[in-house]
Amino acid sequence: MEVVILPEIEAIGVLAADAIGELLARKPTAVLGLATGSSPLVVYDELAARWAAGKVSFAQARGFTLDEYVGLPAGHPERYRTVIDTVFVSRVDFGKGAVDGPDGLASDLRAACASYEDAIHGAGGVDLQILGIGTDGHIAFNEPGSSLASRTRIKTLTKQTRVDNARFFGDDLDAVPTHCLTQGLGTIMEARHIVLVATGRGKAEAVHHLVEGAVSAMWPATILQHHPHVTVLLDDAAARRLQLVDYYRETYLSKPHWQGI
Ligand code: GLP
Repeated sequence: MEVVILPEIEAIGVLAADAIGELLARKPTAVLGLATGSSPLVVYDELAARWAAGKVSFAQARGFTLDEYVGLPAGHPERYRTVIDTVFVSRVDFGKGAVDGPDGLASDLRAACASYEDAIHGAGGVDLQILGIGTDGHIAFNEPGSSLASRTRIKTLTKQTRVDNARFFGDDLDAVPTHCLTQGLGTIMEARHIVLVATGRGKAEAVHHLVEGAVSAMWPATILQHHPHVTVLLDDAAARRLQLVDYYRETYLSKPHWQGI
């Protein structure tokens, strides 16, 4: 696991966009794993700017989102399919239907989960997965207690996650759905490269467990310690509880630029 601590949030966007740009240059048909939430927005903003400047194209790429609320009606602004379209997909040149997400409106939710796994597999798997992290250490919507080998499935959201996400629903906790469909931890672990973005003090405890804690279903993101290629991009506030913070800084400072992340 590589830990990169950068003082400016914009620099996090640049570094992640560099990795995605390099991937698309060598593999224009790359499959991207797209996360919702506020953390990856700097990455999407940077990629949209590069697309507008003609520096990158998604025309042949595919995308898969991580998760979806159950039951939010089509067109609801907080439905993750709508969100990812608004914040990223509609701002670049993905082909029609190139970005898929779990179907939280399916009449058979279990079947929708299975077919989502098939779709990711059929596309050749995810080349680069962008991730955020919840304050309770969840990735996608894999809440504490999730099986470390889980696949795409129906989950019940914790109160903490619903409180955290209420800001997107007019601070009305009752408006936040109770259930979701989410890629499992086992599904996410199959991505070839995982780039996790965490910023702000509120993420410091989860980041501490992710990077330096014991692997445990209580902090689901810790499963990433078993992945061979994870890059964790942090600002100073999110890194404030890391024991080896000086080591991470020195390591990154002495890394040759050409090596990338
Ligand atoms: C939601 C999403 C996660 C995201 C998390 C953190 O729960 N399902 O994918 O990582 O929020 O979001 P934020 O980046 O806004 O803090």
